Parts: sequence; structure tokens; C-alpha cells
Amino acid sequence: MANLSTRFFGLDLKSPIIAGSSSLTASVDQIEKIAKAGAGAVVLKSLFEEEIQLQFDAELLDRKALAPDPEYLDYFDYVIKDESLTRYIHLVADAKKAVQIPVVASISCTTSSDWTQFARKIEDAGADALELNLFIIPSNENRSHSLNEQFYFDTVKKVLEVVSIPVTVKISHYFSNLAKVVSELSQTGIAGITLFNRFYTPDIDIELEEVGNAEILSNGTEYLLPLRWTGILSSKSACPLAGTSGIMSPDTAIKFLLAGANAVQVASVLYQEGAEVIEEFNRSISKWMDGKGYRSIDEFKGKLCLKTKQIDAWERTQFMNYFGGLSF
Ligand SMILES: Cc1cc2nc3c(=O)[nH]c(=O)nc-3n(C[C@H](O)[C@H](O)[C@H](O)COP(=O)(O)O)c2cc1C
Repeated sequence: MANLSTRFFGLDLKSPIIAGSSSLTASVDQIEKIAKAGAGAVVLKSLFEEEIQLQFDAELLDRKALAPDPEYLDYFDYVIKDESLTRYIHLVADAKKAVQIPVVASISCTTSSDWTQFARKIEDAGADALELNLFIIPSNENRSHSLNEQFYFDTVKKVLEVVSIPVTVKISHYFSNLAKVVSELSQTGIAGITLFNRFYTPDIDIELEEVGNAEILSNGTEYLLPLRWTGILSSKSACPLAGTSGIMSPDTAIKFLLAGANAVQVASVLYQEGAEVIEEFNRSISKWMDGKGYRSIDEFKGKLCLKTKQIDAWERTQFMNYFGGLSF
């Protein structure tokens, strides 16, 4: 079997297949199955900023009323009393005890406010790394793109100030200059960037004439967007990239590695086929590597990225052969 080891989250992983954050990674039973199937790492279900913030606000007010001195800012021992935060801390600690693979905690957020202090509690609980799922839908026409982008840099800076474990970010593609943002983010001290997080997506029911939600799980073509950007950005990023969204087969995972990703994160395929599918991913990637004569991922990682004379293929947006002319 070829050597599937790689690096992401600032850590050595034995496989490039990472179980992405989802409700499947919220229980120790499932995490054990994921580890047994050979995942390189597991990202726990996210704790949402709001879950931290609400408690923070209430506690801060209480403490301010009781003791209006600067020490009240040491509020996080109080915050931790909150049930969902306590459960999360236990999940981190229990997962760490149960499996040998790296356990990565996850926080989803849309602001860089004081919740960032809580990251230290996650580190104390034993998480090997922390993934920040950062997202802003740039739907406010009165807010500049630079203000939106500043949120990413402020959040990373604040979290890096309070933890010493590696921190990675999972971002969307909603940027006016994605390459510039990724290049600059990659130099902030983070250990990796995952492209792209998948939002709750609205869809319209034409019978009910209502806006509802689209399919929760990915389909097999969604990988094309993150694949393109992995190919374009992998040589421009100072930190490793991972791909996510629509990676439903080992072949697709290999494409991301060829485009320059160090790893991929999967969720939907785990829902559809069970954690055991990770074994199949590892086996098939290894078989492909054997067939090609590759002994390690480093031997082919990024072979087809933009830097390696494929600029036209990655950046071309008009394709005469298909979209030009009058005949099809
Ligand atoms: C049911 C479900 C729950 C998810 N929950 C989270 C979450 O809490 N935090 C997060 O960062 N990503 C979450 N994700 C996103 C996944 O981690 C992953 O990035 C995304 O689904 C794309 O991968 P996939 O196409 O393999 O599903 C969730 C995905 C699904 C399907």
C-alpha cells in the first residue's frame, strides 16, 4: 500500500481523507467509526459563535453588576457553566480519549467579537487543532468588501493570540478578490485553509411559491468550484490547502491532490455510505498511486496546479469550442 501520509492542521496525518464537521462528528461512537475506517483526522461538529456569545453577554452583565473592576474580564470560567459549552468541551476531551487520530475542534462564526477568548478552553480540553468556519454572505450593499474581509483577519488574529494549537480556516468563495485574500490569510500564521464551506442554500418551491432550503447533502458536481480554486490558489498560498464540497469518490479526492491540496474534507458521502467509505477512499487512492508509480503524496501533489503550465486550463472562463459560434 502506498504511503498516504500528508500534513494539514499543522499535523502529520496518516491519510488525506478528513471527516469534515457535521452531526456525524458530534458523537464519540461515530468518531470511533471514522477513526477505525482510516480517516486522517476528524473535525468535530461546530460550536456556533452565538452559543458562546449569548452566555458571555449574560455573564458579563452579572459580573459587571457584582464587581465593576477590570478583572471581570476573566469571565470565561463562568461562561463554561453553560450547558452546550460544557458538552462541547466534554466532546473534545472524550473524542481525544477514544481515538488516536487528530481531533480538531470547530467554531462557526460571523464576527470577531469576544467569543474568541473561548478558543483557549478548547485548547485546554485537548483539541489537536482548531478550525474556524468563517462566513459572511456579502449581501449588504452598504458594507465595503474591505470591511467584510477585515473580519477574517481580525478573527484569525484574535484566536491566534489566545491559543498555541494550530488554527485553520474554512472559507467560502464569496470574495471580490479571492486570490489576494487567500494569499494574505495564508501568511497570518494559520496552519491551513479549506476551500470552500458549504452554506445552507435557499431554493424555491414553485408549487407553494415559497423559499425553502435546497438539498442539504452535496452532489457529485459541486467539487468543480473548489477544485478550480485549489488549482489556482495552491501555488499562491503560504499554508496548505484542503478541498471540500462534493468530494464523493476517491477519484475526486485524487483530483484535489493533483490540483495541489494536501487533504480533502468529506461529509455528505459519510452520510450516504457510512464511515466505512473512508476505507474505500484510502484503498483506491493507494491503488491509483501504485499504478502510477507514486510512493508518496508529495510525489504528485500539485502536479496539475496553475503553476505547472496549466494556467489556461484553470483560468479560462470562455471556451470557444463549446460556447462560441452558432453551431453546437
Ligand atoms: C448535515 C451537515 C452538517 C454540517 N455541519 C457543519 C458544521 O457544524 N460546521 C462546519 O464547519 N461544517 C458543517 N458542515 C459542512 C461540512 O463540514 C462540509 O464542509 C460540507 O458539507 C462539504 O462537504 P461534503 O460535500 O462532503 O458534504 C455540515 C455538512 C452537513 C452535510
